[in-house]
Amino acid sequence: MALLSIRTYGDPVLRKRAHEVTDIDQMIVRLSQNMIETVRNAGGIGLAATQVGELPSLFVIDPTPLGMEEKPFVVINPRIVEVAGELRREEGCLSIPGLSQELVRPARVVIRGIDLDGKEITLEATSILARAFLHEIDHLNGVLFIDHLKPGQRELLRGKLREIARKKE
Ligand code: NI
Repeated sequence: MALLSIRTYGDPVLRKRAHEVTDIDQMIVRLSQNMIETVRNAGGIGLAATQVGELPSLFVIDPTPLGMEEKPFVVINPRIVEVAGELRREEGCLSIPGLSQELVRPARVVIRGIDLDGKEITLEATSILARAFLHEIDHLNGVLFIDHLKPGQRELLRGKLREIARKKE
């Protein structure tokens, strides 16, 4: 396994839309394993393929920082089936280091996708995990959490964002 480099704000790949995975080959398995190692190493909860410059539609979740016993897992071709409620809380992103903001998201979500064995999975989550699912699915559509902020809120971050984009180079 290997650590992958996490792309940061300003990298055009973060604005790309991921492609549906039609064949779970060795490349997909290896990418998933490396992404799990990478998110763990970074101390994050979730990581989407676009964040490491890859375009297969998949994300990984490591629930350990949430105090959950569940092992890290991969969701391929994820889609949102149902959302409910609202929750305002602080949100950050490994691709936008050092910047977190309060954001309203659904409090509960049901998503569907496939696992590394190609089996269809349905996952229901609330609170932080629900937020992580929505955040990672956004990444696979080229959307960042800052896109959900109100224009005024985003305006205040302009300087910081520019700084992150500059550091990238
Ligand atoms: Ni993120």
